[in-house]
Amino acid sequence: MKVLITGANRLIGQYIGKLILKSKDFLLLPIGLGNPRIKDFENFYQKLDISNSSEVKNFLITEKPDIVINCAAISHVDICEEFPDKCFKVNVLGVKNLIDNLNPQSKFIHLSSEFVFDGTSLNYKENDQPNPLSIYGKSKLQAEEYIQQNFKNHQIIRTILVFGFGENLSRNNILTWAYSFLSQNKKIKVVNDQIRKPTYVKDLAKAIFDLMVSNQNSTFHISGEEEISIFQLAKKVADVYGFDKNLISSISSKSLNELDKRPTITGFNLDKISSIINYKPQSITNALIDSKNGLIHI
Ligand SMILES: NC(=O)c1ccc[n+]([C@@H]2O[C@H](COP(=O)([O-])OP(=O)(O)OC[C@H]3O[C@@H](n4cnc5c(N)ncnc54)[C@H](OP(=O)(O)O)[C@@H]3O)[C@@H](O)[C@H]2O)c1
Repeated sequence: MKVLITGANRLIGQYIGKLILKSKDFLLLPIGLGNPRIKDFENFYQKLDISNSSEVKNFLITEKPDIVINCAAISHVDICEEFPDKCFKVNVLGVKNLIDNLNPQSKFIHLSSEFVFDGTSLNYKENDQPNPLSIYGKSKLQAEEYIQQNFKNHQIIRTILVFGFGENLSRNNILTWAYSFLSQNKKIKVVNDQIRKPTYVKDLAKAIFDLMVSNQNSTFHISGEEEISIFQLAKKVADVYGFDKNLISSISSKSLNELDKRPTITGFNLDKISSIINYKPQSITNALIDSKNGLIHI
């Protein structure tokens, strides 16, 4: 089985790709927009712009993947607000290009986001009413709807604030960001009024792999179990890594002009995913300790 992963250079794509490489049942085809940045992928990596319809068509006709895991996106919320056309071109047209040219017998696994909701619950279920506040959230919802209406054999995976160290990451997540400042004794200001159930990338990648080998076509929520403010999460990073907690001060989203575009509180109900693949995420503290052990391998 040939598994194509888009966005393979980044955090989620590289973790799933590495799991697939370890399994003897699958051939990995990692794809990105830029140059290859993951050492293990170098021999198989190809460049593809998913927003280019003819390029995607030719590519899929040649490669004929059995499974596509779509981790490519413009996921920077502020960039999506500033350049909505660019955002929809990748997040929606890109998905359409992949689906429209994919053999209907193949499986399409798509990464979506908590940003499809309006940030008023810590227990969103898969069939709760979406209500995106931002351009990014709207684009992710539109892509979900296109997939649901046009490609039967799909798994849509919504996740929340994914963290972890990775290889050659060109973009920070909350862990790498806090770590890079605190480890140099630099002060950080962190929002105290955005609450999430953050997701450890290793738990997410394993869950996506387990779902991939299951035959369930549906939408799934995958996140951690613990709710925490971004401020408290940064404090946990300081705790686990032995940094000075006094370097961290709390601020409100309003002072960053962020509140209206980012959901305030968002968590997922995990009953569905737990019942299907026996999903058991680690506690945040254990995930941070596990990341610390992983640091030496990066
Ligand atoms: N990280 C999170 O906290 C989080 C939370 C919820 C949902 N998600 C979703 O999970 C997915 C993966 O997130 P991530 O954080 O691992 O990655 P990311 O930082 O959002 O990076 C996305 C990737 O998309 C690729 N890309 C952008 N435009 C492209 C194009 N036109 N054609 C082909 N590839 C293109 C980039 O490739 P290059 O690196 O080669 O430039 C990049 O690797 C996204 O769909 C995101 O919306 C993420």
